[in-house]
Amino acid sequence: MHHMDSAPGAKTIIDGREVNYFCGTGYFGLQGNTKLINAACHAMQQYGIASGTSRSGFGNNAVLLDVEEKAARFFEAEQALYYVSGYLGNAILLQGLSADYEVIFADAEAHYSVMDGAAMAKKPVVRFAHCDVEDLQRKLTATLKPGQRPLVITDGVFPTSGAVAPLADYDNLLSTIEGAIICVDDAHATAVLGLKGQGSLEYCGVSGERRYSSGTLSKAVGGHGGVIAGSSAFIEQLKKHSSIPYGTSSVPVPAAAASAAALQLLMDSRALRQQLWDNVAYAKAAFRQIGFTDIPDTPVPIICLSPSAVDLGKLQQTLFDKGQVVLHVPGGSYTSVPKSGAIRVAIFSTHSKQQIDELVAEMLLGMESARCSVFAESK
Ligand SMILES: Cc1ncc(COP(=O)(O)O)c(C=O)c1O
Repeated sequence: MHHMDSAPGAKTIIDGREVNYFCGTGYFGLQGNTKLINAACHAMQQYGIASGTSRSGFGNNAVLLDVEEKAARFFEAEQALYYVSGYLGNAILLQGLSADYEVIFADAEAHYSVMDGAAMAKKPVVRFAHCDVEDLQRKLTATLKPGQRPLVITDGVFPTSGAVAPLADYDNLLSTIEGAIICVDDAHATAVLGLKGQGSLEYCGVSGERRYSSGTLSKAVGGHGGVIAGSSAFIEQLKKHSSIPYGTSSVPVPAAAASAAALQLLMDSRALRQQLWDNVAYAKAAFRQIGFTDIPDTPVPIICLSPSAVDLGKLQQTLFDKGQVVLHVPGGSYTSVPKSGAIRVAIFSTHSKQQIDELVAEMLLGMESARCSVFAESK
């Protein structure tokens, strides 16, 4: 197994060698940012590594409160809840909202955290076809008894395919059902999508009552932990009815302080987001030029390549040998991966155009040789 010997960024040291890094989720390259590191070190001097208890048991502190205050400002909400991992956000929403719905409808490709959260909610779960509003409509009609309220849950951006859920279509459909709820796992859209970076609901123009999302500070934001923002009444409801926020130790202080610094940085400057979108548009255009014509034209920094008759494992290795690091995700090994597997390319705001050009050029060469080897093996 490989090992990372530096902070992840556009240039990362892997196995002792500096490479062009196009993996993971540090879309702004903030994990190695000096402001975040200084904030973490400074807070650790005062508070140590972690509180060693939950927030209800004296584990609350000014750094955690600062993250929540900044997250509330970032999402233009009254209040925010900060907890130990984005993974738990769906469970917190589904437990916290338990009195407000009867049946969960989940996208068939939803992330593990969505399905684990649904299992913890102990309510009936119906899966609908991936990103398919018509199938959702059929399943709603076939399942709901009079007076029952649905809760539809989906990833906002799917982690491997980079597809954006059709949230505006879901919103239109569900606005006709009294009390219907939409919950979005926005792990890959937090700070990335929407003019204000508020995620896929903002990007899709969906807002209002009973439209919720959970985000993460562990990916693009460069810190650590999960956040949910909303009205004070809603956040208090989650705290009261979910066992998770107060049944876990609080987020370690260095990670929390780095997260607060990152949120401030992202609020101070929208330039990072614009730079990311520019790089994404540039990279997608370049990949289209070498034949990947079906790459969707969205600002999502995930490019999913699934060329036919190419040994994708060999392609990843060939690129790695050339100092270009992308991720081969075999079919069925993760959520939202095409059956034949994929090469997942993550674009960062900090990649230079030259790095992107080098990757695309090596990808073309690598595909030729990986394709030849597939033909040679099949003879
Ligand atoms: C769609 C999705 N949701 C949730 C998570 C978990 O987020 P975190 O790493 O902040 O726990 C991931 C992580 O990979 C993810 O891809």
